[in-house]
Amino acid sequence: MFCTSMIDVADEFGVPSFIFFTSPASVLGFILHIQASHDGEEGLDITEFEGTELAVPSWANPIPRWAFPNNVVKKELIQSFYRIARDFRRTKGILVNSVKELESCAVDALSSSGGNKVYPVGPILNLKGADGGGTKKEEVIEWLDRQPKSTVVFLCFGSMGAFREEQVREIANGLEASGLRFLWSLRRRPTDYEDVGEILPEGFVERTAEVGRVIGWAPQTTILAHRAVGGFVSHCGWNSTLESLWFGVPMATWPMYAEQKLNTFLLVNELEVATEIRMSYSSESGETVTAKEIERGVRRLMERDGSREEKLKRFNDGVRKALMDGGSSSSSITEFIEDVRNGGT
Ligand SMILES: *[C@@H]1O[C@H](CO)[C@@H](O)[C@H](O)[C@H]1NC(C)=O
Repeated sequence: MFCTSMIDVADEFGVPSFIFFTSPASVLGFILHIQASHDGEEGLDITEFEGTELAVPSWANPIPRWAFPNNVVKKELIQSFYRIARDFRRTKGILVNSVKELESCAVDALSSSGGNKVYPVGPILNLKGADGGGTKKEEVIEWLDRQPKSTVVFLCFGSMGAFREEQVREIANGLEASGLRFLWSLRRRPTDYEDVGEILPEGFVERTAEVGRVIGWAPQTTILAHRAVGGFVSHCGWNSTLESLWFGVPMATWPMYAEQKLNTFLLVNELEVATEIRMSYSSESGETVTAKEIERGVRRLMERDGSREEKLKRFNDGVRKALMDGGSSSSSITEFIEDVRNGGT
């Protein structure tokens, strides 16, 4: 989705081009909207936006300013977002790794906007073979097998998710104080820790040996599929979000970078399926989420909440059915193939 210069190549060869957009349709709506409002009469400059919230057609609720992606409000980067959005409009259509039943508001808004044709074709997940890396899968599964159903909090912050030592300590203390079972993927960049003990508080591994495990790179989909896992503390990257919905695991949000604050807002306020540890956080800000916030957040995550569970169940069904024969995403793919055959829409 960032490689829009390929559209020029396609144009030169006289073939139609399509974009594969790997974030939510709502985020696509956001990007297209800020570009249109900038280029149009309104002359909106999102980097100088002073209101508390912005109404965007793809969203049921106005988007609070704090949820804007950090890179979008940077003067030196915003032009490249506008350029990408203008390029999107030159394509024959946009495939989105999302599901109509999940983002009906955004899909409807985009479809009726008179802009590009949008094909929700997700969830496109890699459920096999994405497990590479340090931790031994069998060990993790063996440990999970010994835990009661839906009792383990799984914490994982994405391929780029790493924390400062102070933050690691707060997470450790929060988890320990909660008394909950946990499986924590704790990573350093660019490689995993040789020994996670080197960064964890003194004695933490021993004191929590009965209830918890700290690992490096996690076989995430295998873990989310496991019956022992009852909650997922996540950076809300879109892959992780789709995986969590696919396996019906409740999420607690801790956005880190990219469009993750928007994804968080989508999960908590629009879909009402997730609880928060943080709504707004940025890995570049140097702020620290306290042990107390983390303890409260994981407790809330593991408490039963009928209304949240019911919604999660509905979206879980929705994303599964979408891929079946006659399902919304399956039909969208068929339609896309027909449109390509006819030389674009
Ligand atoms: C998301 O998942 C796909 C596989 O389905 C993978 O190719 C891609 O790298 C992942 N994206 C990120 C940001 O990890």
